[in-house]
Amino acid sequence: MTRVLVVYASERGGTAEIAGWIGAGLSGSGLEPDVRPAGSTKTVEGYDAVVLGGALYAGRWHREARRFARRFSGELAARPLWLFSSGPLDHTAEAKTVGPVPGVARLGRKLGARDHATFGGRLAPDARGFLASKIAKRASGDYRDRDRVRAWADEIARELRTVGT
Ligand SMILES: Cc1cc2nc3c(=O)[nH]c(=O)nc-3n(C[C@H](O)[C@H](O)[C@H](O)COP(=O)(O)O)c2cc1C
Repeated sequence: MTRVLVVYASERGGTAEIAGWIGAGLSGSGLEPDVRPAGSTKTVEGYDAVVLGGALYAGRWHREARRFARRFSGELAARPLWLFSSGPLDHTAEAKTVGPVPGVARLGRKLGARDHATFGGRLAPDARGFLASKIAKRASGDYRDRDRVRAWADEIARELRTVGT
């Protein structure tokens, strides 16, 4: 069995749900995923591959995703690794390929990530917080595309089958 750690950093739950969809896709392809929050994941031992994702806040990955990447950089660089971000509160991530923000692009290069995907985000109209409530006035909604997430998980599964681990 190929064990895959799907690890995420999420503030309001939208990215956590995307990680769950990825996990479901991988398990449908016969892999063995564990979906876990970055903040409380203490090891990557025992996993053959890792998918690491973070919500985007102010042009950066959620700090727990950044911290996780820093803390386990050696282990991540030694495994097949995929990265994803969730953020745009519009349809841009569906209409075209949105590249990683600069910090995530740097991490991807440093860790030798195989791919990065940007998925749309979600913000509730009644989101709490000074900035979040302001943003929600003009850009609330759910822009996550479950089929696209699922297709990306299928690609990961295909690649893992091809390369072996
Ligand atoms: C204060 C704030 C700042 C944000 N900054 C960005 C950003 O820089 N880029 C982006 O694409 N999305 C940004 N977003 C949208 C979030 O990434 C989106 O709501 C995402 O789905 C949040 O994920 P979560 O529910 O897992 O926390 C921002 C949202 C808030 C509330």
